[in-house]
Amino acid sequence: LVASAAPGTTQPFPSRPITLMVPFAAGGPTDTLGRILAERMAADLHATIVVENVVGASGSIAGARVARATPDGTTITIGHWGTHVLNGAVYKLSYDVLADFEPIALVASGPQLIVGRKTLEAGNLKELIAWLKDNPNKASAGTAGAGSGAHVAGVFFKTRTGTEFQFVPYRGAGPAMIDLVAGQIDLMFDQASNSLPQIKNGTIKAFAVTSPTRLASAPDIPTVDEAGLPGLYISYWHGLWAPKNTPRDIVERLNAAIVAALADPTVRQRFAELGQEIPPREQQAPATLAAFQKAEIDKWWRIVRIADIKAE
Ligand code: MLT
Repeated sequence: LVASAAPGTTQPFPSRPITLMVPFAAGGPTDTLGRILAERMAADLHATIVVENVVGASGSIAGARVARATPDGTTITIGHWGTHVLNGAVYKLSYDVLADFEPIALVASGPQLIVGRKTLEAGNLKELIAWLKDNPNKASAGTAGAGSGAHVAGVFFKTRTGTEFQFVPYRGAGPAMIDLVAGQIDLMFDQASNSLPQIKNGTIKAFAVTSPTRLASAPDIPTVDEAGLPGLYISYWHGLWAPKNTPRDIVERLNAAIVAALADPTVRQRFAELGQEIPPREQQAPATLAAFQKAEIDKWWRIVRIADIKAE
């Protein structure tokens, strides 16, 4: 249980607790963003929001659960580029990542970071690539599962650099980060929200940010353009969805709660610290997420299929 509103005078909506399903392990980036939002949404809705981590198959176990849940607004999910775009191309799913959900809102986007264990000899991205070339198939990169964003980004990195290393799938980027900090794995292609706290604590090394501009909250980390891999841009965006056929007024009420959360100065500051950009107010409508998800599917399914990325 993460969030419970103070008893309010407003009629509670909905009349029973909401489950916010997080498709990855606790402590990872999706869990972190989900819990920040759940707390503020619960206050706005005068409701209890229970965060439930349902892990496995790069988020598609949770995806199937939410797609089949009763569409009454009491089961919703936070997902992202991986769960609601890539999984549709990588896995043979029992549900449709687009047609089986009602979009509620796009909530944030941020780049990935190319990060490594603190004890790696390489001090910058060019040295990292040289080290990987000198040690083919020796290094390991933690991912949140086959076909997850971290895996797909790692495949693009391999192709671009002509390097070979192993992927190690975890139940989320949170547990993978624990092993990176402990030096059990060498690398991650990780969401900024997961890596930045560790970089700031000096427990891992950052090599580059996968965006054309540096992060305001971590201005020392070079962009991929500056570090030697021009154009390797990856934007890792998150949104919230309900099951298909959730009534429009409930979707709109949930959307209003997210809009309120995203306007909250504390939420905005936390997201900024985590390298997350909140979409402008006019892009927080359900229709914007629907159109954006469709455009991302049209773009990335083709790329994933050409790259022949499949779940093992
Ligand atoms: C997580 O929360 O573990 C991540 O969102 C997984 C990922 O990088 O796709």
